[in-house]
Amino acid sequence: MLDEQKMRTDIPHSARIWNYWLGGKDNYEVDQLAGEAAIQACPDITTMAVQSRQFLIRSVRYLAAEAGIRQFLDIGTGLPTMQNTHEVAQGVAPEARVVYVDNDPLVLAHAKALLVNTTPEGETRYIDGDFNDPDGIVEAARAVLDFDKPVAVMFMGVLGHSPTVEHMRNTVSAFMDAVPSGSYLSLQDGSNEDPLYVALCEGYAQTGGVPYIPRSAAEIRACFDGLDMVDPGFVSITEWRPDPVEVGEIRANCGYGAVARKP
Ligand SMILES: C[S@@+](CC[C@H](N)C(=O)[O-])C[C@H]1O[C@@H](n2cnc3c(N)ncnc32)[C@H](O)[C@@H]1O
Repeated sequence: MLDEQKMRTDIPHSARIWNYWLGGKDNYEVDQLAGEAAIQACPDITTMAVQSRQFLIRSVRYLAAEAGIRQFLDIGTGLPTMQNTHEVAQGVAPEARVVYVDNDPLVLAHAKALLVNTTPEGETRYIDGDFNDPDGIVEAARAVLDFDKPVAVMFMGVLGHSPTVEHMRNTVSAFMDAVPSGSYLSLQDGSNEDPLYVALCEGYAQTGGVPYIPRSAAEIRACFDGLDMVDPGFVSITEWRPDPVEVGEIRANCGYGAVARKP
């Protein structure tokens, strides 16, 4: 059900701008204008958006195929696009169970598209929730996920919406405390290493949308404290287990990410 009170089409929203950069149609004029202004500020942003989706695909594939994970909690899902988490996970492990969480009413309106299991054995659920309420999200996710078994907790380009570095770390910790040993954290975020990306985020903050704050690589990395890094560790997202390229080369960008196991 679309919540008209929460649905603001007069201010841009990161889920819809992200959708615009990924070539989707689920966005409004206000998002297109903000998205174009962002491209002016940082022309690489559309490439970064695609590369962050490619990181999601590779990390979920790794978790399902190599780490044997069968449960996924994808927080800050975004609008459905190509190769969503359940499609990748259930493509490897048909019985995979996936819970999506987002607080954007437009994502909720599109949730049905996320809820289509790609296999009869799998389970996919959407929760209209806010990462500021980890207990509420975990409680609701229990309908699908068994929190006595390993869960992959995912934050893909989401935690820039956290107001402070401390808040970001506490948010991650709250979710990782709720999952057992053998669970994983998969997280990526844009860092403040690229001045053009920083300018983009500063411009976005002026639009009235919820600000997206780029942190230093060290601050993003600290979200993994206490966890065991999977090779190659904390790197630019393009350098995390890249698929072979037939032409050209893999270039680092200012987005950093990793996958790590809870001991
Ligand atoms: C930049 S998009 C990333 C989407 C997706 N994870 C991806 O990688 O394509 C950020 C997402 O986080 C969601 N989000 C922002 N604040 C949130 C919050 N407090 N709780 C849950 N989701 C939130 C937004 O609605 C948006 O869908």
